[in-house]
Amino acid sequence: MCGVVGYVGSSPATPIILDGLKKLEYRGYDSSGVAVLDKDGLKVEKKMGRLAELEKVLAGRELDATVGIGHTRWATHGRPSDVNAHPHTSNDGKIAVVHNGIIENYLQLREWLTSRGHVFKSETDTEVIPHLIEHFYKGDLVEAVQKTVSHLEGSYAIMAISVDQPDRIVAVRQDMPLVVGLGEGENFLASDIPALLKYTRNCYLLNDGDVVELRADQVVIRDITGKIVQKEIFKVTWDAEEAEKGGYDHFMLKEIHEQPRALRDTLKGRISHKGDKVILEEINMTPEQIKGIKKIVITACGTAYHAGLVGKYVIEQLVRIPVEVDIASEFRYRDPIIDKDTLVVVVSQSGETADTLAALREARRRGARVVAVTNVIASSVAREADDIIYTWAGPEISVASTKAYTTQLVAMYLLALYLAQHRNTLAAGNIKEILSELKSIYAKAQEVLDNVEPIREFAKQYHKAEDTFFIGRGLDYAVALEGSLKLKEISYIHAEAYAAGELKHGTLALIVENIPVIALATQQSLFEKMVSNIKEVKARDARVIALAMEGHTEVEKVADQVIYIPKTHPVLAPILTVIPLQLLAYYMAVNRGCDVDKPRNLAKSVTVE
Ligand code: F6R
Repeated sequence: MCGVVGYVGSSPATPIILDGLKKLEYRGYDSSGVAVLDKDGLKVEKKMGRLAELEKVLAGRELDATVGIGHTRWATHGRPSDVNAHPHTSNDGKIAVVHNGIIENYLQLREWLTSRGHVFKSETDTEVIPHLIEHFYKGDLVEAVQKTVSHLEGSYAIMAISVDQPDRIVAVRQDMPLVVGLGEGENFLASDIPALLKYTRNCYLLNDGDVVELRADQVVIRDITGKIVQKEIFKVTWDAEEAEKGGYDHFMLKEIHEQPRALRDTLKGRISHKGDKVILEEINMTPEQIKGIKKIVITACGTAYHAGLVGKYVIEQLVRIPVEVDIASEFRYRDPIIDKDTLVVVVSQSGETADTLAALREARRRGARVVAVTNVIASSVAREADDIIYTWAGPEISVASTKAYTTQLVAMYLLALYLAQHRNTLAAGNIKEILSELKSIYAKAQEVLDNVEPIREFAKQYHKAEDTFFIGRGLDYAVALEGSLKLKEISYIHAEAYAAGELKHGTLALIVENIPVIALATQQSLFEKMVSNIKEVKARDARVIALAMEGHTEVEKVADQVIYIPKTHPVLAPILTVIPLQLLAYYMAVNRGCDVDKPRNLAKSVTVE
């Protein structure tokens, strides 16, 4: 995920672009850059790091260009660096491009262009775009961009400027956001409305395939067939802060709703076309090394640790290798028994958590191979691990982790299936069956999100609760732990998660009349046992809201309320089960008037011990 901004008018372009990029930093912030056209030609400045780094480079410069494009990056192909930052330029240095998205066939295009004498400077997928535009340019930038995109596979919001037609920006979108802002004698482009609101509230919303020719006094939009289309003006009525949250009240809610997209992105390119194999290009282990693994240790903190617990169940079940899961702050001090035959998996959204990083270093010091699962390219964890599985959740702003967790689960499934296929622990048919379910999981996640009403209602009724319990068995227990953490951290309600079979060994004493119990019963093989556990708490007059898979209606006889998740393979259920729990925590917190995105005493990235 990246942010793009463009400006054509009569004011200096650079400050307007920088201002717009600031509003889009939530879309990515590992590097940024601008390209402007002035009387001397094309000028490009780009810098790794936060936008402030770019501002330092530009400070004190003469800024008389009135046409330009800018970019704030969240690295996908190519680590964050000055060279990999956008804008990228053509071979002849006359065309500059910014891009948000992923070009899936860039390697073929790069080879093709290289064979025609083009020289590439960066490791990015984007750089093929200005080179292709140059190749197709015959005096009309619109035509060259149209021809270029007809060769691209993937998703994009692209803006291009050229020395040969210096009065315009040509932009196009496919599966990535892009809006046009309409001014008086000036016009704008941006990934998102917040970047425009200081200058205009009149916008054109674009469709996939639309090509925009943006000049100071004219905006021409052509559809995918090349026909000029007339768009209706969309008037923005929300304020800037609201707009940044995409119309949601909080970043957390926005991020919960981004999960279908995040899941799809994390799976993209990692399942073979035939749907029978996992492709994990980032894992560099030889088949012998994979076969030689004797033990796996997963280590992480908080929510990432909970993703690791799901990983344990799944890897042990599918790969039959013993797995330990360790809280990173414990692992590093407990003299862990690991050696070169141990695979250590560290899970960290930020890739900067001090305890997780220390655990990684400890594991490497003892000779283990380390696979990192992280959401941030070139984070410390990514840099120090032997292999990396990136999650493509996009930047997570809310302190409470949601989309990072579900994409970490996807990483766990991919890793388990990858190991299973190399160690032949699973029949080909079973791998195919799970992969086919995994491919449709994002659509099912959307179904869960669409069924929010019962959760909102439950939160309205029970937000004054002092104590709550989450119970489950097997994978449901791992998810119960995450559900209870979410509720605790943002609503400040005391929540405990228990393996349901363990209740009667002590905790049942705490179950009293009307106490909310959230019972997870999605695992077919444990369903009857869960029904018995629900009866145990109902006998003490608890209020039970149960989560079950569609079709398991017997649970209605014992629980006060049931939320169904769409049918899926039981090992994949955690991805869907956690979503109602995230929503429950969110609505409980909102009803209690809590600061959802910034819960007290907490920080997004814990870089101290
Ligand atoms: C809870 C939460 C934290 C993090 C933990 C690890 O919602 O976000 O528990 O999961 O601090 O952070 P990362 O994954 O960045 O290492």
